[in-house]
Amino acid sequence: MTDVTLTNVRKAFGDVVAVKDISLTVPDGEFVVVVGPSGCGKSTTLRLIAGLESVTEGDIRMGGESVVGIDGADRDVAMVFQNYALYPHMTARRNITFGMRSSGSFTDAEVASRVEEAAEVLDIADLLDRKPAALSGGERQRVALGRAIVRDPKVFLMDEPLSNLDAKLRIRMRAELAKLHARLGTTTVYVTHDQTEAMTLGDRVVVMYDGEIQQTAPPQRLYDYPANRFVAEFIGDPAMNVFPVEVRRDGGAYRAGRGALQVALPADDSLTSLAGREALLGVRPENLHVEPRRGPETVEATVTVTEPLGDSLLIECAVGDVALKVHASPRSGIEPGDTVFLSADAARLHLFDPETGEARYHSDPEAPVTGMAAATSSASGE
Ligand SMILES: Nc1ncnc2c1ncn2[C@@H]1O[C@H](COP(=O)(O)OP(=O)(O)OP(=O)(O)O)[C@@H](O)[C@H]1O
Ligand SMILES: [Mg+2]
Repeated sequence: MTDVTLTNVRKAFGDVVAVKDISLTVPDGEFVVVVGPSGCGKSTTLRLIAGLESVTEGDIRMGGESVVGIDGADRDVAMVFQNYALYPHMTARRNITFGMRSSGSFTDAEVASRVEEAAEVLDIADLLDRKPAALSGGERQRVALGRAIVRDPKVFLMDEPLSNLDAKLRIRMRAELAKLHARLGTTTVYVTHDQTEAMTLGDRVVVMYDGEIQQTAPPQRLYDYPANRFVAEFIGDPAMNVFPVEVRRDGGAYRAGRGALQVALPADDSLTSLAGREALLGVRPENLHVEPRRGPETVEATVTVTEPLGDSLLIECAVGDVALKVHASPRSGIEPGDTVFLSADAARLHLFDPETGEARYHSDPEAPVTGMAAATSSASGE
């Protein structure tokens, strides 16, 4: 059992506090992805677990035992870096076996059989006698992974291992990493700044910002129930639209809006405490719709930018001083300058506190979409 637990971990480099107060438990066998913008403390967190940095405060445990003060080399972790860190003068095979040989705790036969096994898992058996200069980026990456695998460590630590690869190869290697984890089941902490990578790879995702954990949750939960505005805007591409509104009670119904931008909220009693208050309304681009004509619940908007994505046309439009991104149908012919009528899915809305950004309300993500889009299309079908 090698669970990894961080308790109130803090790391300062002089005046710079890279990690403020992090607590996280990674159960044995879990694949956890730490994601966040540049400089938020991801690599530092990983290096603290690896023993490449020492904690300023707090405790790190592996398999229940504190590793604070224990040298990285004695923690039985294997780290894979963004730049692979291969020795250029050694063949792939030597690069893979170097750590095993120098540790002195493996026989030649063991070394050979582990390399063979790792090479098969990673599909690099034919490349073992080449030096790094004669390997492509993706192949070097596999060799670096091979070096980590042969050590059969208790924990894998990976710091943006795919970020030097081109987009296609990155997606392929992502799938291979997922397979590798399914096969080996080794506890893994994986760092990336790419939210798609985080969502597709992680059993759970840790969102960091400014040295602090903002939320730790399985991918779909992050998407459906972002704990605050930062997570809401960071997870999902293109980002969730967030703009200031006033929440009002309107008979039995609730509404949120400002000026001409008015959106119906679900008839949900938990909104009572928010009525009459300022909030930030969050709605994802896929939950706004371009309607064929003006309707009782549509909002008039002016298109400012269009981006064809192939499977959809992403449009940016303005309602007063609010800019909204909306997925429109790919062959709708919408152009900048056009006027469009937008509706929102009432069952897919989020409200955040205007001061703290903390989430105050989420529509039930399981609820059927019964908002204006549905109402408008049934009306037009009459
Ligand atoms: N050795 C160091 N000395 C001083 N400051 C450091 C050191 N290492 C990291 N920092 C600072 O700590 C903060 C967090 O750095 P870290 O490398 O953990 O960020 P990151 O989330 O990995 O960013 P990126 O996505 O760019 O790799 C940054 O402000 C960085 O400048
Ligand atoms: Mg980093």
